[in-house]
Amino acid sequence: MKSQTIDGLLTLAAQSAPGATAVVDGERTLTYAELDEQSGRLAGVLRERGVQPGDRVGLWLEKSLEAVVGVYATLKAGATYVPLDDQAPVARVGYIVRDAGIHCLISSPGHGGHWAQLGGSLRTVVVAGDAEALSQQAASQVARSVAEAAAARGRCALALAGGNTPRRCYELLAAPPLRDAIPWDALHLFWGDERCVPPDHPDSNYRMAREALIDRVPIPAGNVHRVPTEEGPPVAVAAYYERELRSFFGLEVEDVPRFDLILLGMGPDGHTASLFPGSPALDETRRLVVPNSIAYMPHERVTFTFPVLDAARFVAFLVAGRDKADKLPLALAGDPTVPAGRVRPTDGELRWYVDRAAAGQ
Ligand code: 6PG
Repeated sequence: MKSQTIDGLLTLAAQSAPGATAVVDGERTLTYAELDEQSGRLAGVLRERGVQPGDRVGLWLEKSLEAVVGVYATLKAGATYVPLDDQAPVARVGYIVRDAGIHCLISSPGHGGHWAQLGGSLRTVVVAGDAEALSQQAASQVARSVAEAAAARGRCALALAGGNTPRRCYELLAAPPLRDAIPWDALHLFWGDERCVPPDHPDSNYRMAREALIDRVPIPAGNVHRVPTEEGPPVAVAAYYERELRSFFGLEVEDVPRFDLILLGMGPDGHTASLFPGSPALDETRRLVVPNSIAYMPHERVTFTFPVLDAARFVAFLVAGRDKADKLPLALAGDPTVPAGRVRPTDGELRWYVDRAAAGQ
């Protein structure tokens, strides 16, 4: 009888006491009805990804509300869940994944950069919080990375993302408690791309960051390395900004700057920074900053090239909104037809912060 199974008991509880609290995770809670509904939806995603009854599904999450949803979703799919220690070395997780014959993984976005290392033929499912949770997780990581870089190297070079998604993250960095944890005099801000508009233009990535962050924190003016869009046509602006990077990092001709952290977004077409599908900048291997535009996006732009993105110590994607759900699985899987999927730090961490809508949930 169905009611004997654990997930069957959950469904019974959801029918008899739908509003009762089933899970508490700090400030966040789930009722039986919510747990039953969310785990049911995730079970559907698992089946879509080919999970069969009796399969083993790895749960690579911190102890959280999402982990409980993952457990019940796996059971509802008739599969067996294998908990994987969120803090364990990747090599050990990889060994367990291969040894246990795990073919599907429910993972927090934070592990995104390690999936490829786990080996085996993995299909991945991302468990994402809402847009606010995304911004909080990302902002905490930014603050941690800035403090670590300043402690280790005396300064932190951070390249900001444009668009709308990172605005909330910037606002959280400008407010306590994160504001007080950041050594602002050691932080240097750059932009991974910029629209070629004046700095006070509504579509300026600099203006967005100035309003959400820079005007609210004690960062020295000399540490804000804005893209000088007034320096002439995009080709001149790109050349100027490349010189700025080369002088700041003290680079030789062939060298590539190693940012401590680069924040990126992703567009509905899978573009990141201003590296658009099918655009010439995708194949640039020598220059650090190039002009790049595409007919369906407003404004001419300048953008970092892949060599700069791949040389970073840490690259974090912030991706929110249902309009990203089509390209996100491809990007997460590293599909090169999607520019965001081509970002592969050669000696650095790659992390994805996504919201439920972008993850198609
Ligand atoms: C830009 C951005 C761009 C952005 C994506 C996502 O200048 O437009 O750098 O790459 O990150 O278009 O934008 P949203 O966050 O607004 O969806």
